[in-house]
Amino acid sequence: MKKIPFVTKEKVQEIVKTYPTPFHLYDEKGIRENARAVKEAFAWNPGFKEYFAVKATPNPCLINILHEYGCGCDCSSMTELMLSEAAGITGNEIMFSSNDTPAEEYEYAAKLGAIINLDDITHIEFVEKILGKLPETMSCRYNPGGVFQMSNGIMDNPGDSKYGFTTEQMFDGYRILKEKGVKNFGIHAFLASNTVSNEYYPVLAKELFELAVRLEKETGADIKFINLSGGVGIPYTPDQEPNDIRLIGEGVRKVYEEILFPAGMGDVAIYTEMGRFMLGPYGQLVTKAIHEKHTHKEYIGVDACAVNLMRPAMYGAYHHITVLGKEENSCDHKYDVAGSLCENNDKFAVDRMLPEIEKGDYLVIHDTGAHGYAMGYNYNGKLKSAELLLKEDGRIELIRRAETPKDYFATLDILPIYSKIKF
Ligand SMILES: Cc1ncc(COP(=O)(O)O)c(C=O)c1O
Repeated sequence: MKKIPFVTKEKVQEIVKTYPTPFHLYDEKGIRENARAVKEAFAWNPGFKEYFAVKATPNPCLINILHEYGCGCDCSSMTELMLSEAAGITGNEIMFSSNDTPAEEYEYAAKLGAIINLDDITHIEFVEKILGKLPETMSCRYNPGGVFQMSNGIMDNPGDSKYGFTTEQMFDGYRILKEKGVKNFGIHAFLASNTVSNEYYPVLAKELFELAVRLEKETGADIKFINLSGGVGIPYTPDQEPNDIRLIGEGVRKVYEEILFPAGMGDVAIYTEMGRFMLGPYGQLVTKAIHEKHTHKEYIGVDACAVNLMRPAMYGAYHHITVLGKEENSCDHKYDVAGSLCENNDKFAVDRMLPEIEKGDYLVIHDTGAHGYAMGYNYNGKLKSAELLLKEDGRIELIRRAETPKDYFATLDILPIYSKIKF
């Protein structure tokens, strides 16, 4: 499918008069349409709730838009909990799905009334010690080990992943939790990442529903919800077919009716914790070509770098690039599109066929709405960019300002030298 940016060259030329490149731009219209579609796809399940994975895009304005469609927050750390609380999302609208969790974070999650999703059986005692008494509602993260397979092959490798309880630990864990007074139980699992297939959730749901039936029968635990977590992917490359959330919802409904209804568990709520699917396609990194370099390869140097988008450097991930104003030109030039970090992997594209790029051209790097800005860092003292929202009416709203040197040096304010830094 052709990837078309949600901004034009003319719009970017207007935006840069106020907000210089690089910046992350989010598309309010797309976010709302997709959030509505997710809600509709699971409307057959009265308890359905999407807990948006805050780690994907920790911006309160975007979280609040999603909240309008009933989305809560999936938090994994203290600051994500704080952000959720500040956005007015507390209590059982927060799922706290963390791992290797510090005591203070459990304490804070409990204070907010969040649903705690345990990553390990040893955390039962850990949490009990911290809180004095376990909450009435608790969830456990499941990891069956082995490989996760669907009809088109192996999707991921849970046996190699650090997360979750083994099958045996699930049964032991639920018995222990029940003995300790927990009344409402949840099951959670994240077994494959970025699945561009409508099959993932239904296959996962089948496995979890069967487990839920056995768990309830064998431990007497009252399973109230099953959290399919994240992992629903997006088509980063133009040749991929986007997932159809309606088909995914229907697929989950089918296995729900096959497995949970006959077991008398037709009141179990379905939860999700999607990040990438909720916002990935509705964010784009806009950057300007500032240099061209002709050496052993042809390079285009842009004003963004891996600090703004780490996925290509970290995983060799593909992000589609459109040169604004040259959408219809033929892609007859082979480039490495590079940032300015002193790291040779700081490249948004390697050997990519693109239209001829001139200095001053604006490039849109697609699908940066999730795990984009959020993964940024400050190597080479580079500063993180602004986040902007393209409103439905075409206005631009600044939803996070760009970092300044003051932000970068803020943690040196305990040193005498701080007063000598010229801002
Ligand atoms: C516990 C948990 N839930 C949800 C997500 C969101 O995943 P995705 O953005 O792939 O939907 C993640 C991603 O790392 C995660 O670790």
